[in-house]
Amino acid sequence: MAETPRSDENGHEGHPFAQMISIGVVAAIIVTTITLLMDWFPTNAAGAASKIDTLYDVLLIASVPIFVLVMTVAVYSVWRFRARPGDTRDGAPIHGNTRLEIIWVTVPFMLVTGLAIYGWVVLNDIEAKQPNELQVKVTGQQFTWSFEYPKEKVKSSQLMLPVDRPVHFRINTKDVVHSFWVPQFRLKSDAVPGITTRIRVTPDKVGTFEVVCAELCGIGHATMRNRVRVLPRRQFDAWLARQKGGPAGGGGGGGAPGGKAIFTANGCDSCHTLADAGATGNVGPKLDDLATAAAKFGKARRESAKEYVRESIVDPRAFTVPGYPKNVMPTTFGKDLSKEQIDALVDYLLRVSGGKGS
Ligand code: CUA
Repeated sequence: MAETPRSDENGHEGHPFAQMISIGVVAAIIVTTITLLMDWFPTNAAGAASKIDTLYDVLLIASVPIFVLVMTVAVYSVWRFRARPGDTRDGAPIHGNTRLEIIWVTVPFMLVTGLAIYGWVVLNDIEAKQPNELQVKVTGQQFTWSFEYPKEKVKSSQLMLPVDRPVHFRINTKDVVHSFWVPQFRLKSDAVPGITTRIRVTPDKVGTFEVVCAELCGIGHATMRNRVRVLPRRQFDAWLARQKGGPAGGGGGGGAPGGKAIFTANGCDSCHTLADAGATGNVGPKLDDLATAAAKFGKARRESAKEYVRESIVDPRAFTVPGYPKNVMPTTFGKDLSKEQIDALVDYLLRVSGGKGS
């Protein structure tokens, strides 16, 4: 800092140190303002979200000005103190600057330590156990999410939550690593084979948001999306009651479980297209002409169309339709579905794709 810059000999005016610091400060103020004006996040729909957003803003305020200042000084120095044409002299010898070195070690150390403590406090706060938590089991599988309310004994392919009640998620996977993410809750946790990860959130806004898989998990990763609906308390209770009395009950007017409900509840719709169920997945074969395809492929495998469809659900590795990736469809449906459910699903698929059901 102390030595005389050569440029002064070339007739430049003003002190270069003061000049580059003032340019740096002005640039830092402009870029930080732009950064803070930017809308970084989607809707904020959970209690912890505003704390996380604030943390993020503090990180931006702490890092953007320093980054811009350092880069401005670096770029300025390269330009201002460049070697002029014909100038082959060595630069002035420098033996370091103890005061400057103490400052640039101490200030970042205190800054990073302060941010780490702040981050730890926020994390501790949003992970704290809450009274009256709703327990929800989340299960990832290629390529859908399923949800279970163990205390209420309800399973669902759609995540329903009551507003303003703390939720404790326990997250598992049936196959590979997925990542359970609801952007509006600022909530993300990996689903890792063999362990259960946990996360807490209190939704505070009624609405429909997206559950996204944030870990590349295979060919259908991009389609691994479900919905989370946050409902007023009463509507949520009514929904729970309906689920309890629904598929498992079997009594009353309903009779056999509907094939369409089984199709969507088990995530078939995230990989297959089927107009009747409003499904548009394109990982596996389209099912709108399943009856014809089942007759054709079944014949080659000496199976009836029904046997073929059943085998495709229970033992999908036995045969893969040409042109589609092998070993992608989960092999767990034979275990997860009852015999009646599989029968209903087979009948349903053949019926809505132009064949004869039962
Ligand atoms: Cu599951 Cu990506």
